[in-house]
Amino acid sequence: MKPFYITTAIDYVNGSPHLGHAYEKVLTDVIARFRRQMGDQVRFVTGTDEHGQKVQASARKLGVPPQQFVDQVSAEFRQMLTRLEISNDDFIRTTEERHKKVVRDILQRLFDKGEIYKAEYRGFYSTRQEQFLQEKDRLPDGSWPEIFGEVTEITESNYFFKLRSYQEWLVDFLNKNENFIFPSYRQKQVLEFLKEPLNDLCISRPRERLEWGIPLPFDEKYVTYVWFDALVNYYSAVVDLPGVWPATYHVIGKDILVPPHAVYWPIMLHAAGIPVPQGIIAHGWWLQRGAKMSKSTGNALNPLDLVTEFGADAFRYFLIREMNVGQDSDFTREQFLVRYNSELANNLGNLVNRTLNMTTRFAGGVLPAADVNEDLERSLQELWAKTRDEFIALCEGFQFHTALERAMAFLTETNAYVEKRAPWKLGKSTEAKDQALLRTSLATMAEALRLAVALIQHVTPATTKKINAVLGYTAGATWRDELNWGSRLNGSKVEPALVLFPRPTPPALEAGKPAPKKG
Ligand code: MSP
Repeated sequence: MKPFYITTAIDYVNGSPHLGHAYEKVLTDVIARFRRQMGDQVRFVTGTDEHGQKVQASARKLGVPPQQFVDQVSAEFRQMLTRLEISNDDFIRTTEERHKKVVRDILQRLFDKGEIYKAEYRGFYSTRQEQFLQEKDRLPDGSWPEIFGEVTEITESNYFFKLRSYQEWLVDFLNKNENFIFPSYRQKQVLEFLKEPLNDLCISRPRERLEWGIPLPFDEKYVTYVWFDALVNYYSAVVDLPGVWPATYHVIGKDILVPPHAVYWPIMLHAAGIPVPQGIIAHGWWLQRGAKMSKSTGNALNPLDLVTEFGADAFRYFLIREMNVGQDSDFTREQFLVRYNSELANNLGNLVNRTLNMTTRFAGGVLPAADVNEDLERSLQELWAKTRDEFIALCEGFQFHTALERAMAFLTETNAYVEKRAPWKLGKSTEAKDQALLRTSLATMAEALRLAVALIQHVTPATTKKINAVLGYTAGATWRDELNWGSRLNGSKVEPALVLFPRPTPPALEAGKPAPKKG
């Protein structure tokens, strides 16, 4: 079986990680964990993009060598992965030898094939910012903003990659592979973009201007510029692992789809004689007050603050539950608290508390067998079978937000079942029929809980483990088998209590609704 190889974009290290970076890693992790559960052999790679002008400038400002600077920031990104329970198999950095070697090999191969040529590059250049400017950088009156200082038109020799000669091939490829990009409406945008003739891609910068990059193997006076370095990480990370390439999916944000991932990358690979990936998943942006969350806008949220306050699982749950993959979402603390309180603390947390509490009170902490199967039990079991099947199909199509909604609806129904059976009343009766119903309701609620948390475990891995532990349950090896309603918990000794999603501390609570007390 071909391994399922999935990647994230590699993050620039000129700033600390923010919520947008965290989301992409969580989304990719959720897909990776889901595919592992489905039996795929998964390879999951993420990393950092460490060359370029901005990094060079940031290091200079701090008066430290660039390598020292990137070592520090890259470590921060890796730390974030640990805190978010990301299950990546590898972490690639573009300053690593294994990567630089592959970039140079590919460049040499393309150069030898005549796909790269040298030509003059004319453009407006800002000496103060040490960068070429684009027409879009101009102010509405046609002048250049103050920050660029003096802007002059200069001509510089550089290396170009023959992108244009592959335009027809790419259009044909996209027409033949209709599902190359998810969501599919983004594929149409790429085809729209390809209606205009492509320009060849400038892939170099003279070393005297940009020191911090990978030297071209055929002309050491130049370094590669941006995408030829960064995109190759996907390939260099697995080049020594037989059978892993091509990638199954690259997960990226919509801002770097066209042209880098949807145009440059397939053409670069095809021109170099390397198979192209199976697909690209382009997610939307986290916004704050309508603007893309980013370091430069100054509205970036530190994901680790939320993780510290609410735990990794609550954070992961919120991101995946809230965002429809591909579309944008506004991040508000209020909405976070609403979901935290109503879905995690009340719906899931409440079922956990009731199950542990009542099993302890009425059954000596040992889960009994269900010996009645009436309409109430049967309809919950039917809902389970439907929920499970729909949930899996939704996850296969990356509709995780709807999948979680279904899982929550099942938990709501389970809590409603508990209300109807009212084991707290049955527990006071000594009638044999009531005792049988009591045992049945305890077994039913515990089994429903076990199933629900098994279902969402790729989103909430730590919570699922904790709940299994207090249910005295060790999950089996095959996820799909775990999802069948049964009697696995019969005779299991449960813990008396578990604090899972504690009520937020007062300042946080002000923004959300206090949870009503139940059960
Ligand atoms: N280094 C390049 C990617 C090279 S991939 C070969 C880059 N880095 S980045 O740090 O700017 O962004 C990394 C990823 O985070 C991108 O996929 C980007 O879309 C994503 N996000 C950055 N801000 C975001 C939001 N506000 N919301 C969601 N994701 C966004 O681009």
